[in-house]
Amino acid sequence: MGAMVTCRRRVLGVSVAAVVLIALLYFNLHQLDFSGLRTFLDESNLDEHPRFGPQHHGQNSSVTNTATSSQPTTTSAPPVQTPSTTPPDKVIVIASTQSDDTSWIGENFPDWQHAIYVVDNQSAPLHTEINKGNEANVYLTYLIANYDNLPSTIVFSHDHRTHHHGSRSPPNIRGSSSTNDIAFDNVATIKALRIPYVQQTGYANLRCIQHPGCPAGLRPLRTPSLFSPMSPQERAMPAAWFELFGNHDVPEVLAAACCAQFAVSRDAVRKRGKAEYERFLWWLLDTPLDDYTSGRIFEFLWHVVFGMGAVHCPDEGVCYREQFGVGV
Ligand SMILES: *[C@@H]1O[C@H](CO)[C@@H](O)[C@H](O)[C@H]1NC(C)=O
Ligand SMILES: *[C@@H]1O[C@H](CO)[C@@H](O)[C@H](O)[C@H]1NC(C)=O
Repeated sequence: MGAMVTCRRRVLGVSVAAVVLIALLYFNLHQLDFSGLRTFLDESNLDEHPRFGPQHHGQNSSVTNTATSSQPTTTSAPPVQTPSTTPPDKVIVIASTQSDDTSWIGENFPDWQHAIYVVDNQSAPLHTEINKGNEANVYLTYLIANYDNLPSTIVFSHDHRTHHHGSRSPPNIRGSSSTNDIAFDNVATIKALRIPYVQQTGYANLRCIQHPGCPAGLRPLRTPSLFSPMSPQERAMPAAWFELFGNHDVPEVLAAACCAQFAVSRDAVRKRGKAEYERFLWWLLDTPLDDYTSGRIFEFLWHVVFGMGAVHCPDEGVCYREQFGVGV
C-alpha cells in the first residue's frame, strides 16, 4: 500500500514536472512567436506606403470603393536598405472598360504607380461602384479612396493610348526634330509631361490644342433658345453647379480644352476636403442626367475644381513649351 502511494506520488511528480515543462516550452515558443510577429508588424508599418486602393476610405460612405489594391504588398526586404520599394511619387489613373487594352501603361511607365479602374467589371481589382458618369466616376473614386495618401502628381487619363483628342504638336510650333511630336499618343504625352510644371500650376490639361472647348466652350447663362442640342451640358450646368458647389455663381463662360485628360498636384487636390469629392461623386451617381451629359459637366469643371479660373485656355505655344518642353 505504502509503496503504491509512493509510486503514485512519483508518477504524479513526473507528470506535474512534464506539464510544467511543456507549459514553459509552450509559452516560450509563443513568446518567440509574438516577438517575431511584432517585428514583422513593425516592419510592415515601416514598409507601409501609399498605394491606390480603399485603405483610407470611409466605411459608412455610400460611395465606398470595394476594390482592393491591384498589386500584392511586398512583405520582405527592410525598407531602409531598399528605398526602391517606395512606390513612385506619381500615379496614372486610368478609366477603362474590360474590353480595353491597357497594357501600354505597364509597358511604358514602370516609374509610375498605376491605378487602372474597370468600370464594368465588379471583379476587377479596381472598379467603380456602378458604371455611371464616364471617366468622372473613376477620377472621383480614386481621389476619395486615396485622399489621405496621394502621390504628389496624379495623371488622369482615358484607357486609349492613341486617340484624336489628346495632345499633339501643331505644325507651327513643332520642334525641329520629329521626336518632339507627341501626336495623339498618351505615352508620348505623359512621358513629355514636365512634373515641375504640374507642381507649380496645380492643374495641367494634357491637351494643348484649344479646340474644342476653348475659348468659350460653355455659356450656361445664355438664352435657352441658343443652347445647342449637341451640348446638353450647357443647359444642365446651372443646376449642376448649384448642386455641386452650393452656390449660384455659375460663370457666364466655362472653357477648357476638351476631353478630360489632365494632371494635377496633390496640393491642388487637397485645397478641397475629401467630403467635397464625396459630394461630387454622390451627385454623379445620383443625377438623372445621362452619362454623356454628366460626364461633360465634369469635363468643363475639372479645371475649376482644381483651382483654375472659369476660362482656362493657355496659349498653345506656351502650353507645349512649358508643359511638355516641346517647340522650345
Ligand atoms: C461615419 O461618418 C461620420 C461622419 O463623417 C464619422 O464621424 C464616423 O466616424 C464614421 N463612422 C465610421 C464607422 O467610419
Ligand atoms: C473581370 O475581372 C476579373 C478579375 O480581374 C477577371 O478574372 C475576369 O476575366 C474579368 N471579366 C471579364 C469579362 O473580363
